[in-house]
Amino acid sequence: MHSAGAPGKVRSVLSRVMTKSLSPLALPHLAAIAPYVPGKPAEELERELGITSVVKLASNENPIGPSPRAIEAARAVLGQAHRYADSDAYALRTGLSQRLAVARDELALGHGSNELIDLLCRTFAGPEQHAVIGAPSFACYRLSLLAAQVPFTEVPLDDGLFWNPDRLLEAVRPNTRLLFLDNPNNPTSTHLPRTGLQRLLAGLPAHVIPVIDEAYVQFADAPDYASALEMRALHPNVVVLRTFSKAYGLASLRAGFAVGPGELLNALERVRLPFNLNGLAQAAALAALDDEEHLLEVVSSNHAERARLCAALTELGFRVAPSQANFLCAELPSSDSRTMYEALLQKGVIVRPMGGMPRHLRISVGLRDENDRLTAALRELLGT
Ligand SMILES: Cc1ncc(COP(=O)(O)O)c(C=O)c1O
Repeated sequence: MHSAGAPGKVRSVLSRVMTKSLSPLALPHLAAIAPYVPGKPAEELERELGITSVVKLASNENPIGPSPRAIEAARAVLGQAHRYADSDAYALRTGLSQRLAVARDELALGHGSNELIDLLCRTFAGPEQHAVIGAPSFACYRLSLLAAQVPFTEVPLDDGLFWNPDRLLEAVRPNTRLLFLDNPNNPTSTHLPRTGLQRLLAGLPAHVIPVIDEAYVQFADAPDYASALEMRALHPNVVVLRTFSKAYGLASLRAGFAVGPGELLNALERVRLPFNLNGLAQAAALAALDDEEHLLEVVSSNHAERARLCAALTELGFRVAPSQANFLCAELPSSDSRTMYEALLQKGVIVRPMGGMPRHLRISVGLRDENDRLTAALRELLGT
């Protein structure tokens, strides 16, 4: 790590955002929303500390990057930036429909899967309806539900780490409209096995839309992991979310999609903004789908490094949850996670402390060198 001048002070993004008071002109229910805090950008820490070569293992990104074919495809359409993109994303929709063997109207495309989460909340629920989510699980479900003023129940995961389908079913009410379950789950990295997911889908009443978010599906390799795409017959409203941000390495371009019943997804069309998927994202996503070799390289590198990093952290005294994703959820041997997060920042390594998990860090699996930088920094900090 190269140091240029005196280290600056590391500002907490969370405190910066939350000290801004809510305008009295804003809708009052927004006061309950703590804005989403993304992983700290590497450039920000480099500016603050006056250093270079920061390692960012905070946002579950693909450290290898996108397929060269995706980059080429995005470049090729850049010259058309003065034209609006195809708002229906004909080519990408066709490519996805062929690969997944679903009808074109069984697909909805979004500005990342985040947009689809938000659209689902705004389209299907409001103050009179209810939703079920896990705790902990992906923060954006909560944020979109709060913004849409949808009451919701947070169902604790077993041991704070594992989905319990029976507890989810118990939380369902007559007015429950949405149930969000990410499989594998962010931030715990764990999965709900096939039989549990089957039991959940078969047990949910028909007034509920089960939204199974498979942002990390490509990294799951447990024999008992199964995609909800195989289980659409178990419930009339299954919606499966996927993204190009993780295994396909296109996080910055923003492309995600949903597979579900055409009648449900068609309702999203009334709410979504036109041109939500820009031309670069459409072209790159389609090309990325075609490059299976690159995808395999990304996944196999992740599996090798996931196992290596897990072993290294375990040796350092962390308790690491069994990961089916491209990140690890690690319980610290001592000290709270925020203190460790801040100490790692000073060493130029960005990981992610998680709200509601004061002893855990979420650590994205990086390249070999990046993971080694992290473990070396931890070794120093823990004095082992
Ligand atoms: C479970 C889960 N779903 C959805 C997303 C959002 O992905 P996208 O970049 O497609 O909006 C993330 C991103 O971290 C995630 O962890």
